[in-house]
Amino acid sequence: MDARAVRRHFPILNQEVNGRPLVYLDSAATSQKPLAVIEAVDRYYREQNANVHRGLHTLSERATQALEEARAKVARFINAREPAEIIFVRNATEAINLVAYSYGARLREGDEILLTPMEHHSNLIPWQLAARRSGARLRYIPMNPDGTLDVTDLDRLITPKTRLVALTHVSNVLGTINPVAEIVQAAHREGVPVLVDGAQSVPHMPVDVQALDCDFLAVSGHKMLAPMGIGFLYGKRELLEGMEPFLAGGEMIAEVDLERATWAELPHKFEAGTPDVAGAVGLAAAIDFLNDLGMEAVFQHEQELVRYALNVLREVDGVTIYGPEPPRGGVIAFNVEGIHPHDLSTVLDQEGIAIRVGHHCAQPLTEALGVPATARASFYVYTLPEEIDALARGIERAKEFFAHGIRR
Ligand SMILES: Cc1ncc(COP(=O)(O)O)c(C=O)c1O
Repeated sequence: MDARAVRRHFPILNQEVNGRPLVYLDSAATSQKPLAVIEAVDRYYREQNANVHRGLHTLSERATQALEEARAKVARFINAREPAEIIFVRNATEAINLVAYSYGARLREGDEILLTPMEHHSNLIPWQLAARRSGARLRYIPMNPDGTLDVTDLDRLITPKTRLVALTHVSNVLGTINPVAEIVQAAHREGVPVLVDGAQSVPHMPVDVQALDCDFLAVSGHKMLAPMGIGFLYGKRELLEGMEPFLAGGEMIAEVDLERATWAELPHKFEAGTPDVAGAVGLAAAIDFLNDLGMEAVFQHEQELVRYALNVLREVDGVTIYGPEPPRGGVIAFNVEGIHPHDLSTVLDQEGIAIRVGHHCAQPLTEALGVPATARASFYVYTLPEEIDALARGIERAKEFFAHGIRR
């Protein structure tokens, strides 16, 4: 993959920030958008905009067709059996909340939900609330010191009380790629469904829900070149059919009288209200863009960047890097001795370098690492090795700056 050629499709990257060429190393928070996506959204509003599923007029039919074509494209992208297994939502957070409320409604006192200590808050708090509502208990697959999951005791952790396993495919802090297929197999032996948080995997590697055999998959479009405000939940038909709706209102009903209502067929049962059609159109364009690159090539590009970054950053004195050896996701969390990550970020920002600092919405994990916060550089299809060199130079400058400050 020629990242330099890919980069030309991203207008935002071609600018200076604080007088320096922008070095955007925060793609795990949100990706930048290629022209093809920006133009698809623009075209939708210029030529197709109308409310969907409601009107018989031509524009409404066009908008409905655009939405349903986007759904079919998403289904093919993750190899779902049918488009009806794709529910459009705002983001991965909403997708997980949908499952936590609708599937979680069947939880009872003493039931167990199995998670991992590396979950993003999006895949932790909804389960804490579901546990609070039902009296269910949260349990955790332990983590090895290198940031991989310790799955040796999985058969003991999945008990007759386990009702669901929910875990991230790729850690947004450590980059760990979890052995999802293996965990799904162990869970299914006990008849337990598995929700996979695909927020950091689907944008970066080939993901095939039938090969993984996961029961739910939550994804945010904005991390995979699509606009903010569109995401999707994949769920197996038999599970989705057995669940009550999450949100209620227009679009999701079959028949309504003043006392009761019956639900529309999948996927509409879970899509109350007017959907983000422009977002779905943008997501479809993003998927076309990624398919043109090839998801295997995207994954390999990031593996090269991760290996390069590990080599470069390990040469910088005082840098501690967290997470396992590659292959791993294109995120590198680190700390620089004697410099708080927030101060580091401020200095880097002056150099036009955007990284993320804090607990990255995974506070229990940051605590397990024994630090108050980390800095995180994250990569995507447009990231160049030179940008990692710029990061290393920026860290050296921050070190000089703070050493100088202390001397004075
Ligand atoms: C692993 C993981 N899960 C879930 C989310 C939540 O994504 P969103 O805020 O788009 O819902 C993120 C976002 O950073 C993430 O990294």
